[in-house]
Amino acid sequence: ITPESVEILGRSYPRDDMTNVTAKILSLVGRDLHNQKHHPLWIIKERIKEHFYRSYTSRTGTPIFSVYDNISQVVTVEQNFDSLLIPKDHPSRKKGDNYYLNQTHMLRAHTSAHQRELVRSGLDCFLLAGDVYRRDEIDASHYPVFHQMEGVRLFTNHELFARVENGEDLSLFENSGRRTAQKQEIHTMEAVKLVEFNLKHTLTQLIRHLFGEELEIRWVECYFPFTHPSFEMEVRFQGDWLEVLGCGVMEQELLHSAGAENKVGWAFGLGLERLAMVLFGIPDIRLFWSKDERFLKQFHLTNINDSVTFQALGKYPPLFNDISFWLPAEGYTETDFYDLVRSIGGDLVEKVELQDQFTHPNVWTVPQCGDCMVRCLPSLLLAVKAIGRTNKVSHCYRIVYRHMERTLSQEEVRLIHQAIEQAAEQKLGVQGRF
Ligand code: PHE
Repeated sequence: ITPESVEILGRSYPRDDMTNVTAKILSLVGRDLHNQKHHPLWIIKERIKEHFYRSYTSRTGTPIFSVYDNISQVVTVEQNFDSLLIPKDHPSRKKGDNYYLNQTHMLRAHTSAHQRELVRSGLDCFLLAGDVYRRDEIDASHYPVFHQMEGVRLFTNHELFARVENGEDLSLFENSGRRTAQKQEIHTMEAVKLVEFNLKHTLTQLIRHLFGEELEIRWVECYFPFTHPSFEMEVRFQGDWLEVLGCGVMEQELLHSAGAENKVGWAFGLGLERLAMVLFGIPDIRLFWSKDERFLKQFHLTNINDSVTFQALGKYPPLFNDISFWLPAEGYTETDFYDLVRSIGGDLVEKVELQDQFTHPNVWTVPQCGDCMVRCLPSLLLAVKAIGRTNKVSHCYRIVYRHMERTLSQEEVRLIHQAIEQAAEQKLGVQGRF
C-alpha cells in the first residue's frame, strides 16, 4: 500500500499524478556524500573551495566567493525550471527524466535551481555544492543521484571595466542591440567578451589546478535556456573527449528577476563524480555510494592535496539474467522499469540494457482444426482470439548483476530477479514472458 504523501526531511508532500519518487531514491537523500569528511567527492569539493578562496580575494585579502553545501535538495518545480527561463513544454521537464514529489515539488535536477534565490539574497560571487537527481539509464557512469558544483560571479560596470584603459567610457548595456550567436540583445559586445573571457579563464585555471598543466581541454558551444552564449568544457581523457561542465553568460532576464539588473554575470555547473572518476581513477560511479572501508580508507589523506589513485577492489564476476515481457497498451516508460530494477536490486545491478524489442505481427492465418483437419468454425474462433493478443510490443532486457565487493551467488541473484519479475507485473502492468 502506498501512503498518501511523501515524507522527506521532516515535511510531507501529498501525492498526485506527478509523484514518481521511489523509496530507494528517498533513502539516498541525506547521505550527503559531498559533506562526508575524506569522501572523494568531499575532497574534490574542498580542493575547488580552496582554489577559489586563494585565487579570488578582495583588496583586504578576504575571499570574495562564499560557499554553500547544505541547501535542501527539495525544490519547487518553479525553482528548478521557471526561474531559469526553461519553457513550460521543454523536454527537460519530462516526468520520465525527473523525480517529482508532486506537481509543485521535486528533487532538484541541477544546482542551477538555486541561482535566482542566492543572487536575490545579495550575493555576487558564490559556489554551491549539492546532490542532484535525474532518472536515467543504469551503467558504470550513470547513477540517479550525482553531485554538482555551481559557480556564479556578477560584475558591476565598474568591476568589469575598471582595469580597461579608458574603461569609464564603456557600458554593460545597449538599448537597440540584437541577439546574435555572440551575445544577448541587451549586452554590449565589449561587456560580453570580458565576461566570457573571465569565465573561461576562471574555469581553465580551476581545471589546471585540479589536473595539472598537461591536461588538454577544449570549448564547445552549446545551448542552455538560462545562459547565452553557452559553452561546454571537455577534457581529453584516455583518448576521448569527456564533457565536465556547462557554463555561460547569465541571461539578463534571470538577473532582472533576481533584482540584479544593473550587473552582468557568468555561471557554471560541473559534475563532481566525473572529475573524481578522472582524477582518482574511480572506474564505476556506484563506488561513491559504497560503505566498504576498503574503498573509503583509500581517501583518508592528511592533506586534501595529497595525490591518490584508487586501487581496484578486484572485479568480482558478473551474473547475467534476462527478463522479457509484453508492454501494457499504454503508460509504459523504460525509466519506470529502470527505477523498479534499481529499487529492488539496489547497487547489485551494474547495468540494464534493452536487448531486443518486437511487435507481435498481425497474421491472419487460420490453422486447420486438430480434430476435423479442416478450417472449421472453432478453429476460426481460435484464430480471432489469437489476433486479440497481437500487435503487442515485447521488450527484453538484460540485467547485469555484480557486487563491487564480493562474488554473488546464483541463488541470491535468482531471488532478486524473481522479485523484479513480480514487481514489474504488479507495478508496471506488463505481462511476463518468464
Ligand atoms: N545546470 C546545467 C546542467 O546541469 C549546467 C549549467 C550551469 C550550465 C550553469 C550553465 C550555467 O547541465
